[in-house]
Amino acid sequence: MSQFSLDSLPMISVDAVTGMDVHGYLKHLRGLAPLVRSPMGPLIALRRRHTELLFSDATRQMETETKLMQGISSGPIFDFIDTAMLMANGETHLRRRQPVARAFAFKLMDAMRPKASALAEELVLQHLDAGPIDFVKEIAAQIPARLIANILGIPASDLPIFMRWIEDSAAALGFIDLEQRERIEASLTAFNAYVDDLLAQRRQSPRGDFLTDYVHAVAEAGNLSEAEIRTQVVGLILAGSDTTRGSLCVILAHLLAHPAQWAAFCADPDGLKKAVVEEGLRYEPIVSMIPRVALRELDIDGYLVPAGAIVAISVLSCQRDPEVYADPDSFNIFRTDHPRWNLGFGAGAHRCLGEALARAELEETLTVIARLAPRTHMAGPAPTLAPAAIRQIGPMQVDFDGA
Ligand code: HEM
Repeated sequence: MSQFSLDSLPMISVDAVTGMDVHGYLKHLRGLAPLVRSPMGPLIALRRRHTELLFSDATRQMETETKLMQGISSGPIFDFIDTAMLMANGETHLRRRQPVARAFAFKLMDAMRPKASALAEELVLQHLDAGPIDFVKEIAAQIPARLIANILGIPASDLPIFMRWIEDSAAALGFIDLEQRERIEASLTAFNAYVDDLLAQRRQSPRGDFLTDYVHAVAEAGNLSEAEIRTQVVGLILAGSDTTRGSLCVILAHLLAHPAQWAAFCADPDGLKKAVVEEGLRYEPIVSMIPRVALRELDIDGYLVPAGAIVAISVLSCQRDPEVYADPDSFNIFRTDHPRWNLGFGAGAHRCLGEALARAELEETLTVIARLAPRTHMAGPAPTLAPAAIRQIGPMQVDFDGA
């Protein structure tokens, strides 16, 4: 194949990405080239067929450089990133991931379904036929926080402080608003101490739950520092919070915006719940970009990406790639062209560890809403999604209207 200069690639306009029609803009770019340049430096990959290469061992995960670029080189945020599985590579990544993966098994996560369903039912019934509610705060933030609290055996009396730590600390994963650094670090410090305490309790009195399995697994492996052991637990909580919260909001908003599909779902929630979540995660993924660093020269349709270059995979663009999906800009819960793996959960060595739990939470909550409140409607505009690697959901008012 002939070779092209990277300098000839289009430059992405940040203004256009932050504008309303981000999908329309990405579609336009995808028609021009497989990659675009960005003013911040990284290249952005737009086509699904290159993801296999970009998530392979020809690339590596970004490590602490994301924080160093922001001038954060010590303190609780830096230490968290420095010890997390998500920002590690090779043997270090495996060492940190394996004990969590062993304890956070699919079977355990799938067994959370009845709990997710019961929790969603309790929350929806509190607001049924009671007028508009703040869906983000009252439902979407509650489900992931309360379920992970349940998995970790956290008492109900600690829920309010636990939820505040999640809200304040989740920002540690992304681009830090430096004005918020002190608040995030204070919260992370308190969160770390709380998790240390939970771990100490399980070592002293095993309970036959996830944390007990986890402390056994790390003791058996014997190759993790105390900070690494704790960070994987805090990381699990944070990685599953904003992602599940935002996904629940956007999937419900799109379903309600398509009344015929909402009616079909209400008529057969159990039969359609998987299809609804699969399509929702494709159509409006909450994780918009996943960056990687090239470890060798990569050939992307004749554009030679040098070793050391940062390439961000645009999940938003790949999930609407017409080479994969028929009529990709239509929200269609009946489509049959989903690939086996939903790119919304990433790919390769770092593919999401919480996928089974997230799917259980999303499917069961939406099912409960459809079953108990089929006349549910938006009581305000559709929620906005602020651009970021994990897109932040704006306000969403919903009215749970019963039959
Ligand atoms: C709809 C909800 C969710 C979405 C869209 C999502 C998405 C993702 C993505 C895209 C990655 C890969 C990032 C990368 O490669 O750089 C990831 C990793 C991860 N996710 Fe999720 N996630 C969700 C829910 C959860 C939940 C509920 C948990 C746990 C309670 C969780 C735990 C993790 C962990 C621990 C990793 C790091 C894996 C590793 O580095 O090896 N996620 N997630």
